[in-house]
Amino acid sequence: MTSPQARRPVVAANWKMNTGPDDGAALARAVAAESLPFAQVDVVLCPPATGLAAVVAAVQGTPVAVGAQHVFWEESGAYTGEISVPMLEGLATYAVAGHSERRQLFGETDLDVQRKTLAILSGGLTPIVAVGESLDQRDAGETLGVLRSQVTRVFEALTPAETAACVIAYEPVWAIGTGRNATPEQAQEAIGWIRDIVAAVQGLQAAELVRIQYGGSVSPENCQELLCRDGIDGALVGGASLDAGKFAAIVQAAAP
Ligand code: 13P
Repeated sequence: MTSPQARRPVVAANWKMNTGPDDGAALARAVAAESLPFAQVDVVLCPPATGLAAVVAAVQGTPVAVGAQHVFWEESGAYTGEISVPMLEGLATYAVAGHSERRQLFGETDLDVQRKTLAILSGGLTPIVAVGESLDQRDAGETLGVLRSQVTRVFEALTPAETAACVIAYEPVWAIGTGRNATPEQAQEAIGWIRDIVAAVQGLQAAELVRIQYGGSVSPENCQELLCRDGIDGALVGGASLDAGKFAAIVQAAAP
C-alpha cells in the first residue's frame, strides 16, 4: 500500500503491572534522558495508573508522551476500581484498548474494545488498539479470521478520520512475554492483513494513514529486522521497556 515514510513510527512502552510512582518516574527520566530520534518517532510510556502523575511530571518539557494501559468506557459512576477517560485529563494522551492480557485474564470482548476505543477517541486521546491471535489459532490457520473479527468489530464503529487517528498494535499472543517474537515475515504479513481489513471497513485512505505497530518479545536484538520492514510502524514493547537503555535501542531502530 503506501510507503512507511508517510506514517510516523510510534514506539510505546507497556510497563504492565510493574513500577510504582517513584521507580516509574526514575525510569521515565532515564528514558527521556536518552538521545532519542524524537523528530522522527513518537515515544509513549504507559505506566500503571498509580504512576501516571509521577511519570507525567518526570517527562514534562520533553517530547515523551504518556499513555494509560486501561480505561472504562463510562465517564463516571458506580464502577468500583475503574478509571474513565475524563479522569485521565492531564495524565495521558494515549490509552491502550484490547490488550490480550485484558482479553484473556479479564474477559474483555471485541465489543468492550470497541466501546473503549470510542471513549478514548471522544476524550481526545489516541487509542492503541491491540489485536492478535493465540498459538492455537495460528496453528489452526485462523489468524486472518481472528484479526478480521477483532479489527472489524472495533473499526466498523468509527469514522474514517477516527480510524486514521488510531494506532493498532499487532501482538500475537504466543509472542508476548515468551521471548519468541514473530519473524519479520510473519509480522509483516499479519500487519498487511490488518491494513487490508481496515481498508475494507473504512476505505483506503484511513488504512494508509493508520499506524500499525508490532508487539511481542521485541528486544534490542530483534528490533532492527522487525522495524525496518515496510508497513511496521513501530512497536509496543513490554519486558524490554522496563530497561531505559533497551527501550532506547528499540526507539532508535524505529527511526526511518
Ligand atoms: P513483551 O514485550 O514482554 O513480550 O510484551 C509485549 C506486550 O504485551 C506489549 O503490550
